[in-house]
Amino acid sequence: MSHKVQVLTLLEENRAVYLSGQHIADVLGISRNAVWKIIRSLKSEGYAIEAKTNKGYRISLAPDILHVDAIRSELHENYRDIPIEVYDTIDSTNNLAKKRAEDQSGYFLVAANEQTAGRGRRGRTFVSPRGNGIYTSLVFRPAFPLQDAYFATLIAVVAVRRVLTRLTEETIDIKWVNDLYIREKKVCGILTELVSDVEMRIEHIVVGIGINLNADMEQYPEEVSSIAGSLSVEGVARNEIIAQIVNEMLPMMEEPDRSEVLKEYRAHQMLHGKEICYEQNGVRKTGVVCGVADNGGLRVESDGKVSILMSGEVSVKPVKK
Ligand code: BTN
Repeated sequence: MSHKVQVLTLLEENRAVYLSGQHIADVLGISRNAVWKIIRSLKSEGYAIEAKTNKGYRISLAPDILHVDAIRSELHENYRDIPIEVYDTIDSTNNLAKKRAEDQSGYFLVAANEQTAGRGRRGRTFVSPRGNGIYTSLVFRPAFPLQDAYFATLIAVVAVRRVLTRLTEETIDIKWVNDLYIREKKVCGILTELVSDVEMRIEHIVVGIGINLNADMEQYPEEVSSIAGSLSVEGVARNEIIAQIVNEMLPMMEEPDRSEVLKEYRAHQMLHGKEICYEQNGVRKTGVVCGVADNGGLRVESDGKVSILMSGEVSVKPVKK
C-alpha cells in the first residue's frame, strides 16, 4: 500500500477527529513534510481534507468519497449485510471480485475510485481514471441454469439504465449487448464473467460495471474520447448510485420471470431497424437488426434470412452521403 493510500485510509478511519501531521508521520514512519506533501496531492485530486492549526487534518464528509458505510446505508434492507470492499486504487474490481468469489459465498460488492488495469470485453482496456467514474463489480450465485447466464448482462444493463435515467434528464439507449449510450456516445460498459462446474451449474457470476461520470473527456486518450461520452450527475454521490444499481439489479436476478427485463431491454435498444456490420463464423457481414430474441440474442436479417447473434461486436453501418 502506498503512503498516499495509507494516509487516506487513516483519515477515513478517523473521520470524526483531527489527526496531527506528527501522528500520521509516526504511524507511517515518514516525515511531517512527507505527510504535508501527500495531503497537498490528495487535495489536488479532489479529496476534501480540512487542515486546522494546532489540530491537524480531517477528511470532511464530502459526499463523493467512496465509502463502505455510505454505500451500505443506501442499500435495501434485504441487501444490507452484503460484504462490501472499497479501494482507492485497484487493478480491476472484476479481478478482486473473482478472487473473493473463490472463498466467499453469497453476494459480494467491490468498488474503486480508480482502476489501473480496468478490463473491457474482448480483451480491451477500460480506461478508469480516479475521481470521476463508477467502477464496481458484483458477485452473485444465481439459481438459474447456465443457458440463462446471458440474462445477467441484460439485467445489469437494464438496472443501470433505470438508475441513470432517474438521475439525469438524458435519453439513455442500450446498445446490444452490454453498453449504454447517450447521444451516440458510450457512457457505460459491462463486463460479465462466470465460472461454472462440469455439470454446467453456475458457481458464480461477476458483473463489472464501468460508468463515465462528470468526466472531462479531453483527459481521455483520443481513441476513447472519440467514441465515449460522460454523464453529468450533480448532487448525488457515487455511493448512492452504486447502492441504487445493486437495489435494482438483485431483485431482477432473483426473479425467474424475465419478461419485464426483456420488455425494457427491447424498448430502449438503439440498434433496432439499423443496418449493422458484424462477424459470423469469421465472415464479415451486413444486415438489419430486427429485434432481440427471447434468449437475449440479437435478431439480424441478412439476405432474406434471420440469424440470432449471441456474441461478437456489431457496429452501425455509416450512412453513405
Ligand atoms: C466494456 O465496455 O467492454 C466493458 C467495460 C467494463 C468495465 C468495468 S469497470 C468495473 C469492472 N472492472 C473491470 O476491470 N471491468 C469492469
